[in-house]
Amino acid sequence: MPRPKRITVPEFTAFKQAGHKISVLTAYDYPTARLLDEAGVEGILVGDTLSMVVQGRENTLPVTVEEMIYHAEMVGRAVDRALVVVDMPFPSNYLGRYKAIETAGEMLKRTRAQAVKLEGGSEQAETIRALTCAGIPVMAHCGLRPQSVHQLGGYRVQRDGDHLLEDARAVSEAGAFAMVLECVPRDIAADITSKVPIPTIGIGAGPDCDGQVLVVNDMLGLTSGHVPKFAKQYANLKQDIVDAATRYRDEVRDGTFPGDEHGYK
Ligand code: KIV
Repeated sequence: MPRPKRITVPEFTAFKQAGHKISVLTAYDYPTARLLDEAGVEGILVGDTLSMVVQGRENTLPVTVEEMIYHAEMVGRAVDRALVVVDMPFPSNYLGRYKAIETAGEMLKRTRAQAVKLEGGSEQAETIRALTCAGIPVMAHCGLRPQSVHQLGGYRVQRDGDHLLEDARAVSEAGAFAMVLECVPRDIAADITSKVPIPTIGIGAGPDCDGQVLVVNDMLGLTSGHVPKFAKQYANLKQDIVDAATRYRDEVRDGTFPGDEHGYK
């Protein structure tokens, strides 16, 4: 059976004009990506949040290009329809245009990802232009930039509307096909969304963005520890897993498992 047609970058951008709200989730492995694709989300992001939610690190800085590629390969193999985007990890988009093209190119060559995402605003315009000239579609990431956590002194709501609009316009003019807007007050996100021609994908940026993105572990209730206010939980898989493992442990102890039906004659 031929695989179904995947959503292309131009189709993803055109959702904005069509008024079609875009849903994006992160994924880091084959089984999760398959299920999210089956659910019909338009985009799957192999986010550098894998550093925290998969690798258990305290922020997104340590994850490497090789690790991003390893996870993006698994996700890329699983997806039939959604647009797959892979994050450029810290500080790979700040090492000059040539290096950025080399890294992003490697990411697209070795995975089935169709685009890269990079954190930054107007100071990244030149890099975005170079990548798009090389045929590498770019999703920008404005507002809160988690890779700058040390510079910012924490994960804070970004409230400088003029600066945020300037960033959004700069990445759009440089050729980005969409942008994530993270932790921005609703009115600022709405204003940006009405003034740029490319889709805004909000996370903690209110309902007026063209789409939304969430970290899949947060929305499935798998995250241990702090979950940001904007992350709505749609399931409680952490509890389901603990309950299932507890029942299994009890049944092994009392001999209920395995039963006759689980063995061979
Ligand atoms: O890395 C990531 O998962 C992200 C999303 C939170 C947008 O950048």
